[in-house]
Amino acid sequence: MGRTGILTTPHGKIKTPALMPVIHPGKQTLDVKEFGAEVVITNAYIMYKNVELREKVLEDGVHKLIDFPGPIVTDSGSFQLSLYGDIDVDNKEIIEFQKIIGTDIGTSLDIPTPPFVKRERAERDLEITIERAKEASEIGGDMMMNSVVQGSTFHDLRSKCAEEIGSMGFDVYPIGAVVPLMESYRYTELVDVVMASVKNLPDSQPRHLMGAGHPMVFALAVAMGCDLFDSAAYILYAQDDRIMMPTGTFKLANLVEMPCSCPVCSNHTPDELRSMKKSDRMLLLAQHNLAISLAEIRKIRQCIVDGNLMELVEQRCRVHPYLLDALRNLKKYTSTLEEYDPASKNSAFFYSGPESLARPEIQRHLSRINRIPRKKNLLLLPRSRKPYSKNLHHDLGKFYLKHIKGETLGDSQELWEDIQVAVVDVPFAVIPIEIDEVYPLAQNESPIITDEDSKKFVSAEMEKYMAEFDNVIISAKILDRFDMYTIELDSGGETSENPLRVYSLEEYELDSFRLDVDDREKISSIADYQFGTGAGKALFPDDVQIVKSRKTGKIRHIYEDKTLIATLRATDSVFVLDREGARRLHSLMDYPKNRVVVNADADPFAREGKSIFAKFVIDCDINIRSNEEVLIVNEKDDLIAYGKSLLCSHEIMDFNTGQAVKTRKGGI
Ligand code: GUN
Ligand code: ZN
Repeated sequence: MGRTGILTTPHGKIKTPALMPVIHPGKQTLDVKEFGAEVVITNAYIMYKNVELREKVLEDGVHKLIDFPGPIVTDSGSFQLSLYGDIDVDNKEIIEFQKIIGTDIGTSLDIPTPPFVKRERAERDLEITIERAKEASEIGGDMMMNSVVQGSTFHDLRSKCAEEIGSMGFDVYPIGAVVPLMESYRYTELVDVVMASVKNLPDSQPRHLMGAGHPMVFALAVAMGCDLFDSAAYILYAQDDRIMMPTGTFKLANLVEMPCSCPVCSNHTPDELRSMKKSDRMLLLAQHNLAISLAEIRKIRQCIVDGNLMELVEQRCRVHPYLLDALRNLKKYTSTLEEYDPASKNSAFFYSGPESLARPEIQRHLSRINRIPRKKNLLLLPRSRKPYSKNLHHDLGKFYLKHIKGETLGDSQELWEDIQVAVVDVPFAVIPIEIDEVYPLAQNESPIITDEDSKKFVSAEMEKYMAEFDNVIISAKILDRFDMYTIELDSGGETSENPLRVYSLEEYELDSFRLDVDDREKISSIADYQFGTGAGKALFPDDVQIVKSRKTGKIRHIYEDKTLIATLRATDSVFVLDREGARRLHSLMDYPKNRVVVNADADPFAREGKSIFAKFVIDCDINIRSNEEVLIVNEKDDLIAYGKSLLCSHEIMDFNTGQAVKTRKGGI
């Protein structure tokens, strides 16, 4: 769910995810511009209350007061409300005040209900928060506005709030009252609160995790769909002689070495810092804290582009046991995460431990293998180097030749004609050999030494898969690796009562052997796995010509009578359709499968091959993920173009700006 974006405000555009340093309107400590901050947040209530500041800001505007030329977000005083229980300004007044002082993004006076309060209180507070949001949407005028999700730790209240304010058309949706959770390291609850909120907020607007200022939580929060953070922590920690790192917090008192390579850490020793005047030291530590926080945000943006944000999340969440709990808790939300997870990415999937087993890519694979028609019989092979089909080793050996090809397998020889070969490995469990080069089945790495969770996970998935076949041959190496002692072995080939017959390859593991995967089965299986059951048959009838690369020997193009149907992309072994392929897929697959539907205005542009903007899309297949090959149709379901989705189905439907599909060709 992590995404990069651009948020446009009256004072300029900012890249998201972004960190907004908190500026105290009366006492600015650092020039945050120098550190690369593109946006800041300050407090309207403090300016409103302080006579001197108020006069100044009413006269000069907030940008001059805090000397920041870029976008400024203001908070409303709700946080003071949560600290002191009472403030003397009302919703309307503070919104009008923010308009007058020229805030870029203002905030209404939500009620930050703390975690773990009685439900009655959370409901009562929420009613007021939503009432004030309504009022804000009416009086906000031209000012961009925050509307804060509350609801304490009641997930249904968070969801309800997100849904209600989410439909009111605000510009940014902060998630509020999470500071107490973070201060007490209750990251597991933080995950539930954020997910309950984000799942119900519009995808097209940014979300701000309010009060999240420690770099060790940024990656996790971004992976849950948060785009903005604010940090007063860089100063508060510095005042306490504490040094923030994405890997945790260090007390200056305990340090013999400075922890990073920023100018402060490079130019000062801990001893020097300790012997300084408190105010000088505070300034330097704040500089470090801000620099390292902004660096973490940059790293996260790079990871999103590279497609390895979850690898970073898995690293960061090992910084503290309760963050690890949060990561483990995130497993509950894999299905939601999967809906936003691009179908193909620029980097390989790296397994970092049992938590990786909950990654959306694995769930997607295990669901999509069911799109490939089942055969009668199954041969399960152990891992080899990837791609497996190119590196299958001796396990198969003579046994395969002798028995599976139908020489001596006891009772029924032709039984083994209709056979699915699959490899069993961590973390994708079962990989049918025909699709073993499709991303990320070949583009992943996991340790050779198998952990207990992987053993359980893979053997459970394997047994589920096996249950759908009449006969199964399984390599003894698999049973060894995954501790599958409970599987009943029937190595003699005798018919057992059990319809599932398991044979051991052990005694047959002989010579090295190369398995030739049938090209036709390969292209058909990949198409089914990619587009849905039946796609292979529809796209590629028996008499297609398969053209391979002379250099690599890999399948490249599929033709029928000189007409190109599709090209198999070398990097991720996924089909890129050509005109004829798009036509075939469209006529075989019922509406709305694989389709993005555009309105009449966009129809002529799509036909010309112009890319599809999200605002012209009126419907689409809910199963579309970003980076997938899709069909572009009009309201009558006429195929008018085809291309690659840049967003997932939820985003395509929700966004009103930007491209949804990069059109490959129009004029069908
Ligand atoms: N700052 C930290 N938490 C909150 C919150 O819940 N609401 C507002 N308005 N500001 C905050
Ligand atoms: Zn440093």
